[in-house]
Amino acid sequence: MPIPFIDLQTQRKRLGQPLEDAILKVVRSGAYIMGPEIAEFEAALAAFGQAPHALSCGSGTEALVLPLMAWEIGPGDAVFCPSFTFAATAEAMPLVGASPVFVDIDPATYNLDPASLDAAIEAVKREGKLTPKAVIAVDLFGQPADYPAIARVAQKHGLKLIADSAQGFGCTLAAHHPIHWADVATTSFFPAKPLGCYGDGGAVLSKDARFHDLLVSLRVHGQAVKSDIEGKTFEHDPKYLNVRVGMNSRMDTIQAAVLLQKLAIFADEIDARNRVADRYADGLGDLVSVPKVIQDGVSIWAQYTIELEDRDGLVAHLREQAIPSAVYYPIPIHKQGVYSGYPVAPGGLPVTEAKAARVISLPMHAYLTEDDQDQVIAAIRAFVKKNA
Ligand SMILES: Cc1ncc(COP(=O)(O)O)c(C=O)c1O
Repeated sequence: MPIPFIDLQTQRKRLGQPLEDAILKVVRSGAYIMGPEIAEFEAALAAFGQAPHALSCGSGTEALVLPLMAWEIGPGDAVFCPSFTFAATAEAMPLVGASPVFVDIDPATYNLDPASLDAAIEAVKREGKLTPKAVIAVDLFGQPADYPAIARVAQKHGLKLIADSAQGFGCTLAAHHPIHWADVATTSFFPAKPLGCYGDGGAVLSKDARFHDLLVSLRVHGQAVKSDIEGKTFEHDPKYLNVRVGMNSRMDTIQAAVLLQKLAIFADEIDARNRVADRYADGLGDLVSVPKVIQDGVSIWAQYTIELEDRDGLVAHLREQAIPSAVYYPIPIHKQGVYSGYPVAPGGLPVTEAKAARVISLPMHAYLTEDDQDQVIAAIRAFVKKNA
């Protein structure tokens, strides 16, 4: 059996019949859209993520777009984010007409560098062409960004803070989830994510009831919500009263049913992922650069990413031995054609650019056996020693 990079089938077998029953229940109920599992899942997700409110939505990308829409961020506005991330982080801004401004990362954690962030905000203010509105920090590869420092910078400049936890939902810093510092935390339930569903899905966690209400409206075509119609009477069903421009970003009920099953074992899977990460660090830490987690942070290890000079050589060596690996991300977003015209922090993004040439992610999931992991470790050790 080849070693899987991510093993969703072993997880599916563990979840067994109750998972299949939960899906069949939705199929038989006919409540395919906004069925009862949606509210049940949103409540469970909010509790897990220590957030007052959670809104399920169509994807992790739309989870980023919805709060930008709610804050009416648009043309002429700047939103600061890392370039060392998946394209969706930056894509959210042009989708609402705003401009991403790319910021460099901390070399140890791959997450937003608060000093580069501050410098980028100051530069945009000085230039006066764009209005700074928000910051998106990314919990890359599963570990929390430096939220206390990032929130301080955001607050100093009066900016909103989004935690893009598409890869990090479940991570903590000093026992707090990112929403403790951020105005909003978003996530993705793309199947390969640590908490994934069987299709596309996402969520927005937030703190303020009125803001959550606004997201509820935006998720379904700007339809009137309770706060829009309080004290007013209508001849027609207010469901068809559309008071703002929204979109369709509903999560399918079947996905909520799947996620309820998966959330029940998620904490256990996070522990298992941490055991796998510890074994990689023990097996490789003396030879290659292994990941460092921020002090007091708990990563959920969406990826286990090491660094070495001859990264491409290692990719080829592992491929010869049928060991899967991946490069996240070979091209930083600010170097991609469609994003190359947007501003970057003063002095450019040297850390981001250096990392893109060195990183390689190894098989990582909660069901990685010790035998399989030993094979990965042995293959990497042999490669590094041969090339020393
Ligand atoms: C950091 C980050 N943000 C946003 C997203 C977008 O999520 P989705 O694919 O569910 O739209 C992803 C997905 O890969 C991601 O890794």
